[in-house]
Amino acid sequence: MSAQPASPTPKKVTVRTLWRKKQRGEPITMLTAYDYPSAVAVDRAGVDVILVGDSLGMVVLGYETTLPVTMDDMLHHAKAVARGARRALLVGDMPFLSYQVSDQEAVRNAGRFLQEGGMDAVKLEGGRERLDTIRAVLRAGIPVMGHLGLTPQSVHQLGGFRAQATTAQAAARLLEDALRLQDAGVFAIVLEAVPDEVAQAVTERLDIPTIGIGAGPHCDGQVLVYHDLLGLYDRFVPRFVKQYAQLHTVIHDALRAYVDDVTARRFPGPEHGRAMKPAEAAAFRAWLQSSAPVEGAGEPGSAAAEERRDGR
Ligand code: KIV
Repeated sequence: MSAQPASPTPKKVTVRTLWRKKQRGEPITMLTAYDYPSAVAVDRAGVDVILVGDSLGMVVLGYETTLPVTMDDMLHHAKAVARGARRALLVGDMPFLSYQVSDQEAVRNAGRFLQEGGMDAVKLEGGRERLDTIRAVLRAGIPVMGHLGLTPQSVHQLGGFRAQATTAQAAARLLEDALRLQDAGVFAIVLEAVPDEVAQAVTERLDIPTIGIGAGPHCDGQVLVYHDLLGLYDRFVPRFVKQYAQLHTVIHDALRAYVDDVTARRFPGPEHGRAMKPAEAAAFRAWLQSSAPVEGAGEPGSAAAEERRDGR
């Protein structure tokens, strides 16, 4: 839990806040969070957007990809995040197969993020092939964030977690997709793992903000995965991540110290225990001396204890 005390209710970030930031050239900050403590910490740090990312499948649930994550998983975590955040705009990441099967299902699932999960908006992956779905969700009054470049739900189609839009043709296609998403009405677009100059070209041509992850310094904002930034994920760290802490090591050392302390009987110490009032302790000692404890013996002075003492 953050050491920072909670301040009076801060002004809530909305999609308009993000648009104003782009107009003023002020960088937008976005981070993932997956539970109450991470949401409190990220919100109190002043991050503009909290994404309950389907990356939770990998960094929290231990899957190899995001594909096994379900709507129920996402809602479970979204609810916890909503309880912890007060200022940030909350975005629920639509998991694999929650929006690809039909527009009707997409609207229903996007709506659940707002109605049950306490989110303010949803994010979904894909370009031109998603336009109808995005429009359907928007018609239901739900703000949508786009996601282009490396779209992890298509990891098998992309041939792995690899950089995208690295050829001139693919870069042009990504730019076209971004313009189409903007026309459809998304309020911002995540650009993941694309070359800096592609992200810059997209950012300069869009009125809505771009939020980069592995997309260089020219995006309107940046997003990272909470566990990557804090060094909490032990499997791998993408090259584009800046680790601000190595909490995995800190946690390991703390847990080893606990095991060592208990093993060596250093924990708990006197300061962690609770003593009886002297008179109660004396009565208890007297009772212990006068009677060998047996199951159901009752409290000192109880009928069962008296009975045993009298040998009845
Ligand atoms: O799921 C996620 O965390 C994401 C971010 C990487 C943008 O989609």
